[in-house]
Amino acid sequence: MTPMTPAKAVAHSNIALCKYWGKRGDPALNLPAVGSLSLTLEGLWTETEVGPGDRDAFELAGTGEGEAHKVFAHLDRIWAASGRTGARPRCRVRSVNHLPTAAGLASSASGFAALTLAAATAFEWSPPRTTLSALARMGSGSAARSLWGGFVRLDRGNRPDGSDCVARPLFPADFWDVRLVVVQTTAAKKPIGSTAGMERSRATSPYWLPWVETSEGDLAEAEAALAARDLAALGPIVERSCFKMHACMLASDPAILYWNGATVDVMRRCWQLRAEGLAGYVTIDAGPHVKVLCAAASAAEIAERLGAVPGVVAVTVCGPGPDAHVEVLA
Ligand code: PMV
Repeated sequence: MTPMTPAKAVAHSNIALCKYWGKRGDPALNLPAVGSLSLTLEGLWTETEVGPGDRDAFELAGTGEGEAHKVFAHLDRIWAASGRTGARPRCRVRSVNHLPTAAGLASSASGFAALTLAAATAFEWSPPRTTLSALARMGSGSAARSLWGGFVRLDRGNRPDGSDCVARPLFPADFWDVRLVVVQTTAAKKPIGSTAGMERSRATSPYWLPWVETSEGDLAEAEAALAARDLAALGPIVERSCFKMHACMLASDPAILYWNGATVDVMRRCWQLRAEGLAGYVTIDAGPHVKVLCAAASAAEIAERLGAVPGVVAVTVCGPGPDAHVEVLA
């Protein structure tokens, strides 16, 4: 019998301040076409337990969608990487997403990060965290960043084998007391998943090349603004990266539009508040929700004012979250 110890891991979700959209090279490696920079979030997390089972079985509680075949393909990947011989033992995987109730907030980042850490621990393998991050990336690009708390950068790299596509923590959670106000608008079913959307943008969007070519510059500027804890400098770069990504999506053929009316109304209200002196900066992912980066002291008021926009269903204020970690099983 192949040894295996039941293990549980927790990983927090992250939101990119400089966005990733598009892939390069070998699809199996899931390498990003652009680097990205994210904030790991307190208050939004996934906990995942991996243990021995009579057969492969996956249970998901909380919000989000789990696809069992992706979970077990990921376990195969981790088993192979661990260098263990023989067939991977059958596993029982239980996951709980602690994400706000309206669906549509990405659970793949925290989900694949927690699964990677829990499975490696269960397989009694403890490689460097960058190795775990590279494995998490193969499940979902954004998951590579959720192995760490605080502010994290994922480099694009250039090598075909992906060995220079590495995520690394830039600053820990307590480096800067900022908030991300997560404003949820009504979630319809996504028009297109991120992998298919990225491929469509790469193949058809006339803005694809400008998007890729300008992203390194945005990343360098964002990292410098972050190091200086300068919200007035970082905020405009965050918005620029977001809207370049959405412009690239919109110019795809057929167009990819993730927003609804309330998405636009929240964005405009955020800009209006900023003009009035309440500074927040918007970012939007592959969905209709708006996330607003702001100082801790402004978060409650921004949350209240944006919560009053018609079509908003929930508002959650998140601070910087911790590293992914293993939890002792009861
Ligand atoms: O990790 P994926 O494949 O779900 O892609 C995430 C892409 C965005 O959320 C739109 C941007 C990002 O960098 O997280």
